[in-house]
Amino acid sequence: MSLTQLADNVERGVSRKVTPQLLADKKRLRQPITALTAYDYPTARLIDESGIDMILVGDSVAMAVLGYDSTLPLTVDEMLHHAKAVRRGCRNSFLVVDMPYGSYHCGSEDALRNALRFVKEAGAEAVKIEGGAERAALVEQLTLAKIPVVGHIGLTPQSLNLMGGYKVQGKTVAAIDRLLEDAAALEGAGAVALVLEGVPREVAARITAAASIPTIGIGAGPECDGQILVFHDIFELTFLHRAKFVRSFGSAGDLVRSGLRHFREAVAARTFPSDSESYHLSSGVRAEFEHPPIPAGK
Ligand code: KIV
Repeated sequence: MSLTQLADNVERGVSRKVTPQLLADKKRLRQPITALTAYDYPTARLIDESGIDMILVGDSVAMAVLGYDSTLPLTVDEMLHHAKAVRRGCRNSFLVVDMPYGSYHCGSEDALRNALRFVKEAGAEAVKIEGGAERAALVEQLTLAKIPVVGHIGLTPQSLNLMGGYKVQGKTVAAIDRLLEDAAALEGAGAVALVLEGVPREVAARITAAASIPTIGIGAGPECDGQILVFHDIFELTFLHRAKFVRSFGSAGDLVRSGLRHFREAVAARTFPSDSESYHLSSGVRAEFEHPPIPAGK
């Protein structure tokens, strides 16, 4: 697709299959890339049908949906279960699946085998791994195996224990230089996009200007090529602390709470179900049922 056609389609809201090439075109055209997490079929359908460019089956599923304290306990099998459901609801968005902690830390053969499972069993169009230059060799290997890779640098939640908490990264000149090197190494290794999480706006802007692949920010300011947020955060469907960078786009939590109260009250007051919400016998069967014929001889 030419840039003119793409610009035209974006303007007219024409739905199209999003690919790494299209994301790269959007960066060149300075068209912001939109991305959200999804962990199940209905959410994936809603996001896909709304024209969001990228769906990430994030390992944040561990905390947002499975009730774990961090993303660390999530297994490959748990992730596959969610990724398969999202696949069924995702048609046009670019489908990226997070590789859980431990699934790419035990050698490249093991990492490749796990990444292939996400592609073959769950239909992932790319996998996302956390880490910088130290992951470049793995990114190269996955790319050689024809698996597109999205990198993730800055605040990397799988490094929780090393970071000593969820802390903004890249706050010193030395740390900024390391992030720039990480971004360059991942791009050089073949990554198709980079998630920048929890870094100062100025740092994300510099990385975005230096990179030829798209950057997708979360808590990284408005100069990134795109923005990603966790679905459950933006619709207030979480019990976790809300980070500064999260904006609410509606309170599904309040809607559900009020609906639950109404359901409980309606059942308690016997106003639910109503007659029109009930099945009925046909008039013939009903007459026979209510006035059974008297058996002969009685
Ligand atoms: O798991 C996740 O949700 C992420 C974020 C980038 C949204 O990795």
